[in-house]
Amino acid sequence: MAFFFALVCILISLAIASYVHYSRRRKGKGQGHGGYGGHEKASLKLPPGSMGWPYLGETLQLYSQDPNVFFASKQKRYGEIFKTHLLGCPCVMLASPEAARFVLVTQAHLFKPTYPRSKERMIGPSALFFHQGDYHLRLRKLVQGALGPDALRALVPEVEAAVRSTLAAWDGRVMSTFQAMKRLSFEVGIVTIFGGRLDERRKAELRKNYSIVEKGYNSFPNSLPGTLYYKAMQARRRLHGVLSDIMRERRERGEPSSDLLGCLMQSRGDDGAPLLTDEQISDNIIGVLFAAQDTTASVLTWMVKYLHDHPKLLEAVRAEQEAVREATDGGRRPLTWAHTRSMALTHRVILESLRMASIISFTFREAVADVEYKGFLIPKGWKVMPLFRNIHHSPDYFQDPHKFDPSRFQVAPRPNTFLPFGNGLHACPGNELAKLEMLVLIHHLVTGYRWEIVGSSDEIEYSPFPVPKHGLPVRLWRENRTVERKGCESGNVEDIIV
Ligand code: HEM
Ligand SMILES: *[C@@H]1O[C@H](CO)[C@@H](O)[C@H](O)[C@H]1NC(C)=O
Ligand SMILES: *[C@@H]1O[C@H](CO)[C@@H](O)[C@H](O)[C@H]1NC(C)=O
Repeated sequence: MAFFFALVCILISLAIASYVHYSRRRKGKGQGHGGYGGHEKASLKLPPGSMGWPYLGETLQLYSQDPNVFFASKQKRYGEIFKTHLLGCPCVMLASPEAARFVLVTQAHLFKPTYPRSKERMIGPSALFFHQGDYHLRLRKLVQGALGPDALRALVPEVEAAVRSTLAAWDGRVMSTFQAMKRLSFEVGIVTIFGGRLDERRKAELRKNYSIVEKGYNSFPNSLPGTLYYKAMQARRRLHGVLSDIMRERRERGEPSSDLLGCLMQSRGDDGAPLLTDEQISDNIIGVLFAAQDTTASVLTWMVKYLHDHPKLLEAVRAEQEAVREATDGGRRPLTWAHTRSMALTHRVILESLRMASIISFTFREAVADVEYKGFLIPKGWKVMPLFRNIHHSPDYFQDPHKFDPSRFQVAPRPNTFLPFGNGLHACPGNELAKLEMLVLIHHLVTGYRWEIVGSSDEIEYSPFPVPKHGLPVRLWRENRTVERKGCESGNVEDIIV
């Protein structure tokens, strides 16, 4: 339900924004009548689809069922592009690889990122995903640098340490997989940002204040003391305070560093642009934490379920990882970047989990001008939604799409059909880090532990991304390797690779 609530809040805020927008437009053009007229490309027609009731549009239809069913049935009826109307927002939904590429890559300049104001204020208005143009590019280069291959290579030991301590804390207990994975991805986010040099007190302050921000993120925006939103904004201010202190101390010490915070603090930009301000830096730090945590944790949670539900596959993954374990001298030496590059089957399991779970079902953009797509008009100011999940679950691009089958990734998917990390200028710069985290987690999980799911795991909840109900409660225990060793020696890894 949280997801629906979140969506309602997003849509209400979008609705208010677009209402203001349209009433201004109409006044400007001296039009008193309804509809979305006044477009220059008058000969073009709007995409097919139904706009539902006035104002409410088709919002109720969307909420009265699984949103993915809503999108899928629309697609079936109208094809790759169709219009709808959600709480005051006219939208065009796009369900083909070509259309997604049009919006996100080839004509990206015509579609700007769009988020409700309240979310922008909560994360920080200077965070890169709200921007376009020079500022966005400058920030993006910095973030990509700190998350690029060289940086990741150096991060492997930190990621491994975080994975080990997550699993050790879980050992012998029942825990929500999602909660455990959230803690792990927060920890990994922190070492990426601060380079593993943050003291425990600061880390705890950041974690606790950040979790208050999170709780308020999807609540209704208002300024009444005591509400979740209000508390979240207060915690956000404290986060900025903690980050400012850390930056001040770094400046006093004067030592350069190559972690994300260091990159942001030292950036001069092109043509001697001034340094970023503390506000700009902390907005982006909080933005990266936000983008990194629940996304990675949700996919990891699905992976634990998929592996559990496919015992044969799990055995094959275990065999692959046992071979890596041998290469690390039975786990006595640390994992390296090179080891993580020798996990072909596990990597395919990750790709298939990203496809199946499609936790980011779609994204939003807004047309900055009237745009033509295949003879249809996408009017200026309309929201545009590339539907990633529909593409990932379409039999046109993925045979037998509801089957969990990592072997499909032995062949690269067709261009623009596999977009778990988006596409174009705003595509996820954290994708390699997320995959690294998953590889290392799977390595230690399958070579050191056994687990069972507690209760049924067939229902889905939204928190805010889809995850199995209750975050997948799992009992986990360390396996007795003295017994296991004997059984493994006869297994030939090559035979069971899927
Ligand atoms: C499995 C985990 C993840 C998934 C599925 C995911 C997915 C995505 C997607 C789909 C976008 C593009 C959104 C759009 O175009 O509207 C995005 C953007 C972004 N992601 Fe991720 N992400 C993940 C993990 C991470 C991690 C670990 C980090 C950072 C450490 C990160 C940082 C970002 C940032 C900063 C952006 C904004 C980029 C921009 O606007 O230029 N993400 N992510
Ligand atoms: C939030 O950060 C402040 C520092 O500004 C710290 O004193 C406080 O303990 C943190 N809040 C929580 C709930 O931990
Ligand atoms: C592991 O198994 C061996 C052989 O069955 C047994 O002797 C040993 O006590 C077990 N260790 C643990 C920690 O259970």
